[in-house]
Amino acid sequence: MPASAQNNVSKDPEKSKNTPAVKVQGLADVVALDSHIAFVNGKIGQLSYRGYDIRDLAQNTSYEEVFCLLHDGDLPNQARLDQVKEQLRAALVLPEGIWSILRRIPKDANPMASLRTAVSALSLFDDEADDGSPEANYRKSIRIVARVPSIIAAIDRLRKGKEPVAPRTDCSHAHNFLYMLNGERPGEMAERTFDTCLVLHAEHGLNASTFASRVIGATLSDMYSAVTGGIAALKGPLHGGANQEVMRMLLEIDRSGRRPADYIAAKLAKKERIMGFGHRVYKTMDPRAGILKDMGKGLGEEIGSLKWYEMSLEMMEIMKAEKSLYPNVDFFSASIYYALGIAIDLYTPIFALSRTAGWSAHLKEQWEDNRLIRPKAAYVGPQGKRTLPIGQRT
Ligand code: ACO
Repeated sequence: MPASAQNNVSKDPEKSKNTPAVKVQGLADVVALDSHIAFVNGKIGQLSYRGYDIRDLAQNTSYEEVFCLLHDGDLPNQARLDQVKEQLRAALVLPEGIWSILRRIPKDANPMASLRTAVSALSLFDDEADDGSPEANYRKSIRIVARVPSIIAAIDRLRKGKEPVAPRTDCSHAHNFLYMLNGERPGEMAERTFDTCLVLHAEHGLNASTFASRVIGATLSDMYSAVTGGIAALKGPLHGGANQEVMRMLLEIDRSGRRPADYIAAKLAKKERIMGFGHRVYKTMDPRAGILKDMGKGLGEEIGSLKWYEMSLEMMEIMKAEKSLYPNVDFFSASIYYALGIAIDLYTPIFALSRTAGWSAHLKEQWEDNRLIRPKAAYVGPQGKRTLPIGQRT
């Protein structure tokens, strides 16, 4: 790690203040706020939402139940779950104005850019966009969670020259997305696998995109702005954008006929990163990666090809031995989405689809006890310069 990347303590340059300011590169390990939503223990690879271990949730709950858990603080009873499903169903249809925007998006646009644009545009067609009451914010959470799958499916179909498919109202969130994407109903295994992926990606504490969302929310800006900011942060390859890079890497290794070990050695020699490995918080296996690994094996057996699973396992062992780095959530999710037949550049939008539950729950929490989030920079530039007339400047 370069010296500049080390956590270090520096004196506050504003000499008038006696309290030293702590400078932490990348805000690593800085505690910015209290949250009741997710607990992450990076040393032992533990993640829980509202006190429930992620393995338990992945095995026993649906995405809709997790939405309730994140928003309400506990798992829903049947009546509450039915209510949320009904609220989501009622919000499924996209406003007419969004369709005219979606139909004008260039066919070769990055789907994350298209999604970011469409979610931002949702506010233009919502009379409650600037209503900051808890009730209006809840209704907007429901609208965003319900509409993002329709937007992603429409983006994909329109760019392929196909007509969008109207949402169903008789199935789960996971089922509906796969149906709108492919125009046919998914099998039970595909639905369950996808639903579990949604559960696993729904929330992860104060990660970069959630932090971005909360920073925007803390200015008392609106829900659409804050979620749009979350999508923008998630797009980066060091965050949610890594899942697509993982699949491109697996395909590149496969096409080149090289051994994963040789591919990794060449990349590391050039000081390049291997996507899907490493994490700011986890210093061992990300528990979501462990669950996805097992799911990838099951799915591979079901479709009769363990090729990607085996290649991924080999890479995992090499990275552990060479760099002591472990897979993160983006590593095994990539080959699962590939096995489900989903276009590679939709993997990050799908991450966003799921994370709308976490972002909106965090915004609710932020607004319940809001304070502007505003750190400061240690100014290390020049001081005391004087302006020169433009003709005398070099
Ligand atoms: N491949 C190779 N080397 C790596 C990797 C990797 N995937 N990850 C970290 N390193 C190395 C860095 O080069 C650095 O080495 P150096 O000290 O010799 O310079 C050291 O490990 C520490 O890296 P940092 O970037 O300082 O660690 P940080 O905690 O800031 O980064 C991050 C975490 C961004 C996730 C990093 O591990 C990474 O770039 N991984 C690949 C991208 C990825 O998979 N992102 C998804 C993360 S999960 C999520 O956001 C949903």
